[in-house]
Amino acid sequence: MTAVLFVCLGNICRSPTAHGVFQAKVTAAGWQDRIRVDSCGTSGWHVGDSPDRRSAEAASVAGYDLSALRARQFHAADFEHFDYILAMDEQNLADLDTMRPSDFNGHLGLFLNFHPEAVVREVPDPYYGAGDGFQRVLAMIEQASDGLLREVMGVHSSR
Ligand code: 4NP
Repeated sequence: MTAVLFVCLGNICRSPTAHGVFQAKVTAAGWQDRIRVDSCGTSGWHVGDSPDRRSAEAASVAGYDLSALRARQFHAADFEHFDYILAMDEQNLADLDTMRPSDFNGHLGLFLNFHPEAVVREVPDPYYGAGDGFQRVLAMIEQASDGLLREVMGVHSSR
C-alpha cells in the first residue's frame, strides 16, 4: 500500500481538490486497494470544515465530488504513515520540512513536480483571488495527478 498525503494551508481549497481528483483517478485505474489518499492543512484554522464551496463547485463541474471531505491539521505522526507528502506551495513545504524526522525516507516535495508541463512550481492559493482561480487550480491539479499516478504505478510495478 502506497499512502499519499496532499498538504496546503487551510485544507479547504487546494489539498482537498487534489485529494478528490487523485482519488478519482486512482479509482478509475482500479488501484484503490493499493493507493491510500488523504489531505490536510499546515494550519488548524478550518479543522472540521467542508471544502470551500468555490473549490467544491469547480470540482463538481469537472465531475469530482469533494462533499465527504473534512479539514484536518497535519501532525508530525503523518511522517510515519505516508510515503508521499506533497505540498502545494513553498511555504507549506518549508513548514513540513521543519517537522521532518531524520528517519523519514518517503518523498517530501512539491506536488507540481509531478506536472509534466508545469511552468510554475506552486499551486497558487485561490482563497483570496479572482473567481477563475479555482478552475485554473483544478486544471493544474488534474495534470499533476496524472503524473503522480504514473509515478506511483511505475514505482509499484517495478518492485
Ligand atoms: P488552502 O486555501 O490552503 O488551499 O485551503 C486557504 C484557505 C483558507 C485560508 C488560506 C488559504 N485562510 O486564510 O483561512
